[in-house]
Amino acid sequence: MGAPKASHRTDVFVAFLPQDAPAKKVAGVPDGALNAAAKTALKAGEFAGKANETLLLHGGERGRRLLLVGLGEDATAETWRLAAAQAARAIEARRLTRATFLVPPRASGRDIVLGVGLAQYRFDEFKSDAKPVAFQRAEIAPLTGAAGRLGKEVKEGAALVAAVSFARDLGNRPGNVATPRHLATQASKLTTTGLKVKVHDRAALKRLKMGAFLAVAAGSRNEPRLIEMQYRGAKSKETIAIVGKGVTFDTGGISIKPSATMEDMKFDMCGGAAVLGFMHIVAALKPKVNINAYVPATDNMPDGAAYRPGDIVKARNGKTIEIINTDAEGRLLLCDSLAYAVEKKPAAVINLATLTGACVVALGDAAAGRFGNDKKLSAAVDAAGESSGETVWPLPVFDRYGEMMKSKYADLKNSGGRWGGASTAAAFLKAFVGETPWVHLDIAGMAWADGDKGYHKPGATGYGVRLLWEFIQSR
Ligand code: BES
Ligand code: MN
Ligand code: ZN
Repeated sequence: MGAPKASHRTDVFVAFLPQDAPAKKVAGVPDGALNAAAKTALKAGEFAGKANETLLLHGGERGRRLLLVGLGEDATAETWRLAAAQAARAIEARRLTRATFLVPPRASGRDIVLGVGLAQYRFDEFKSDAKPVAFQRAEIAPLTGAAGRLGKEVKEGAALVAAVSFARDLGNRPGNVATPRHLATQASKLTTTGLKVKVHDRAALKRLKMGAFLAVAAGSRNEPRLIEMQYRGAKSKETIAIVGKGVTFDTGGISIKPSATMEDMKFDMCGGAAVLGFMHIVAALKPKVNINAYVPATDNMPDGAAYRPGDIVKARNGKTIEIINTDAEGRLLLCDSLAYAVEKKPAAVINLATLTGACVVALGDAAAGRFGNDKKLSAAVDAAGESSGETVWPLPVFDRYGEMMKSKYADLKNSGGRWGGASTAAAFLKAFVGETPWVHLDIAGMAWADGDKGYHKPGATGYGVRLLWEFIQSR
């Protein structure tokens, strides 16, 4: 739609105002009474445009309201997403149905749609008294003639919201629902022109000689799956490989975890969910790139058939691994999947995993740990992290960490102990990618939120979907 006319029906106009250039009036509101109310409020200093600041003004024609939303100083794309989310929360809290967002030329419709859509997400599949969301209709109205550009941005924003919501749903579903088979079924539904989905079962994993992955899967009645997806959108031979950890529930296995907050280990497939969410938008928007995606999915359970500390297993690439701790399982699925992925000679491989508690100790929920073996690829991922708002931060993979993963009895061991735990895990993975440019994102601190966090709700964040999308835009 274009700029709203005086006759425009809506419950609320939403206007964004910066702090560094204090406004005396609000542009683009087609309502005399609301404009007057805004002028009065601004003159009285009741609204300064600070980040997270909102002010709701009443008195417009036919009950129309005006919501002022602050941007703070030096607004970035992330500022716009957060401000839009703040607006959506304010609108939803008042149970309004229809909102008209006035978008100035310096903002992207994509960020507004993302902020609103991600903040509006809810997961109530298992609530028997779920109420419908009041806020049903968000209109994006350009303040100048940027309507053409805006249409494309809104479309991309909506596709991202759908993809992130898909990933969040997978993450939020409990371990008794989101089984490896469930993930494979959900992945198969993404099949479309250019996108093929192949699912490997336990027998196929044996044929593929994925002894490390199979060791983790040994203790669960739920059958493991390796989901393999192939998307071809470009004529060139260049492909990017993406791998996501899909541990559908991590008890720790025989090295069992303490029970406090163990329920959060349903989120241990969020790396895999990010990969599936990414393929969701790839299927929808069909970018001109080639992608091979892999999600190894299994539970990690204690059982009579479970793998044990001391066991020695053989990975697909022939390397032997001594199991020190069955709770260091993610790297075991990933190492077989990475070895498999690099056999096809991708130009780059990126993996995402809720891999270590140590990474959460280091970075908290401010950034994912970014490890790599290639400066150029690492820089591209860092840039995608920054522009998407899914921040990453570099952590080292020194040779010293590789030494710490050497075993007395086998080529490698699966745990190097407490110290440098995020980096020793990365060093383990590095041994399976050879010369292929590789980035590992440890998303353990980012995959889910305990409370409201910006445009996230408590539960799975869908972290990684937007970063991956941003990354392939740069290829
Ligand atoms: N899934 C966990 C890592 C994790 C912990 C993610 C907390 C999010 C929050 C992983 O499988 C694990 O258990 N890692 C161990 C490794 C250790 C045994 C070497 C860890 O971090 O303690
Ligand atoms: Mn574990
Ligand atoms: Zn795990």
